[in-house]
Amino acid sequence: MFARRIAVIGTGYVGLTTGACLASLGHTVVCADVDADKVERLRDGKVDILEPRLDDLVAEGQAAGRLSFVVGAANALTGPAGAAEVVFLCVPTPMGVGGVADLNAVQAVVEEVRDQLAPGCVVVNKSTVPVGTAQRIHELLAREDVTVVSNPEFLREGSAVHDFLNPDRIVVGCDTQDAAEKVAALYSRLGAPTVLTDAASAEMVKYAANCFLAMKLSYVNALAELCERLGADIGDVTEGIGYDHRIGQAFLTPGPGWGGSCLPKDTHAMLQVADSADFEFRLLRATIETNNRQRQRMVDKVRLAVTGSRTGSLSRVRIGMLGLTFKAGTDDLRDSPALAVAALLRQAGAELIAYDPAVPSNSAAPELAGVTVVDEPAMVAKDVEALVLLTEWPEFRSLDWSELAGAVRQRIVIDTRSLLDPDVLRRAGFAVHSLGRN
Ligand code: UGA
Repeated sequence: MFARRIAVIGTGYVGLTTGACLASLGHTVVCADVDADKVERLRDGKVDILEPRLDDLVAEGQAAGRLSFVVGAANALTGPAGAAEVVFLCVPTPMGVGGVADLNAVQAVVEEVRDQLAPGCVVVNKSTVPVGTAQRIHELLAREDVTVVSNPEFLREGSAVHDFLNPDRIVVGCDTQDAAEKVAALYSRLGAPTVLTDAASAEMVKYAANCFLAMKLSYVNALAELCERLGADIGDVTEGIGYDHRIGQAFLTPGPGWGGSCLPKDTHAMLQVADSADFEFRLLRATIETNNRQRQRMVDKVRLAVTGSRTGSLSRVRIGMLGLTFKAGTDDLRDSPALAVAALLRQAGAELIAYDPAVPSNSAAPELAGVTVVDEPAMVAKDVEALVLLTEWPEFRSLDWSELAGAVRQRIVIDTRSLLDPDVLRRAGFAVHSLGRN
């Protein structure tokens, strides 16, 4: 493999993982961020995000002299070994007005680096962007000696390093063969199938993958509701369909709805992309609507379980929440379904107390307004009318359910993640309500 000099702009979970992993593959990487404090912490080997193995790779990369951190994109273009040959853009593209991806950060970086890129340099966009953005970046750069490549990432939060080093595929989109091959070669040691395509198709792959995953989950959540009505068991149904290799077992667990910083943002952005192409993407719209409805469905389940009636009042009812993050293995609260359910429960008048292994009680996250966070799972049960499990942290399985049974006012558990062993809970005297089974 040919080791390259690389700049990575943005040290979020995508940028930092990309930088640290590329350094571990033998490249020399300079990572840049606008946040000087964060850069300082990274230089000290401190990684703020919960991402297994990332801190080790950051330390190893720095010790080997292959990974360094600077403030400001332009400063990443000249590293210890010379000018960057490949520049990765890994900046946020949040949901902007009307669901359209907000490209301000991408644009700002492009303007900052435009005049300082070395001749022959390849600019690689990893940020999730609407189809046509590579072309727009090319126009903004206005440099005929610089090539723009789209190379989407498929990293899951919480297993980003694993996913980077064990990719299902590498997608490289560019109209120039040389640049595409240069970027594909960066990953050659990983031995993954590589799809070389044009930039627009590569950009589309990213949205298409996330929207498909969202659609799969909305389908499963709808199927679970139907199973409840028909007396079927969603666990058996998904196992039964999942053995079909065309469907697969992954991403088939029903839940309180899909969330996080990617799926909601990308489904909305794809809808906007479709609208702008005058295409009515009904399937995707239904996917999003099914997800929104799922949150209310969780509240309806709590209401029925606690009050015994579909119209019973939750006013002043104390509910214990197990889990706040959008999924297990991360401390990320962005677009967390648990918090969406919490907001609806609060609207219905419930009082909420919550425990999450990744969220300390002194967390100042604004998303937690109105929820009392505690540091011990035992504390979450005190005098509650029901416990609602909303994030699939494995440690919830081994809670001391007999102890919790002694603290609650009603022994009711609503397990929205199909995580707990109903027999264990029943032995502790709990009535268990889950999705897709009776
Ligand atoms: C997602 C994609 O899985 C990654 O491939 C992609 O790179 C990333 O977005 C991105 O665009 O950057 P992530 O947001 O980390 O990754 O989360 P997922 O693991 O996909 O989970 C998304 C949501 O679906 C979570 O709320 C999760 O709890 C839920 N989920 C997942 C279920 O409800 N059931 C399942 O069986 C799986």
